[in-house]
Amino acid sequence: MYHNILKHAARFFTGMLLGLTLLLPATSPLNAQESVNPDINRHYQDPDFERWQSTFERPGREVYDRRHAIVDALELEPGIRIADVGAGTGLFTRLFAKQVGDTGKVYAVDIAENFVENVLRTSREQGLNHVEGVVNDQKSTRLPEQSVDWVFLSDTYHHFEYPGDMLASIHRALRPGGKLAIIDFRKQPGRSSSWVMSHVRANKDQVIDEVTDAGFELERDLPLLEENYFLIFQRR
Ligand SMILES: C[S@@+](CC[C@H](N)C(=O)[O-])C[C@H]1O[C@@H](n2cnc3c(N)ncnc32)[C@H](O)[C@@H]1O
Repeated sequence: MYHNILKHAARFFTGMLLGLTLLLPATSPLNAQESVNPDINRHYQDPDFERWQSTFERPGREVYDRRHAIVDALELEPGIRIADVGAGTGLFTRLFAKQVGDTGKVYAVDIAENFVENVLRTSREQGLNHVEGVVNDQKSTRLPEQSVDWVFLSDTYHHFEYPGDMLASIHRALRPGGKLAIIDFRKQPGRSSSWVMSHVRANKDQVIDEVTDAGFELERDLPLLEENYFLIFQRR
């Protein structure tokens, strides 16, 4: 009798495990069929460039205050090709363009056409003619395969509605051995603001897991920022 009970219990737990295994890929953000956060980009439907420039490029915003240290930490060589995905108002695009010089190339990639047009305008005004604009969609960077050495995301990963599709597209766009830099808000109960806690989907460890699962290896975790983490991955 004990033997039968044990047999049934073993079958029950095996069934449960199998069910959970089948369920996991469907619920992981990397395989999500639905947007993981359908509302997160509502402000960027038809954004007012000047308004957002005074939000993104203002003293007091950590990535703005530390922008030169951030660019220096990447050690970008002249002549390389880098994509600023989620370029916004071009805070980093223009700095990268100065760094890589006109033998290099910077792609300003954003879902908001108005941002891309104005990033191109402000870049041209500074003589930065090697900036190219790309209006993408939520599931693709729309960059050609193996077209870039670096992809940079500042305050953008948590805006990805389909992180799995975007990471796959970034992986395809990078040359083998290419690098992916991610700066995003730390999400730590008791430390982060209530706005960050509700606005940002995943914490640093979850992001590392998602990016690693998408074919990248964590290379550096730079201790440069306080409100944000700053990670560098290499394309496997
Ligand atoms: C908070 S802003 C950050 C802008 C800029 N990187 C910065 O740090 O100043 C996020 C940007 O990501 C863009 N965005 C959201 N989802 C995106 C996606 N899947 N691909 C490219 N850009 C995206 C938004 O339009 C917005 O410009």
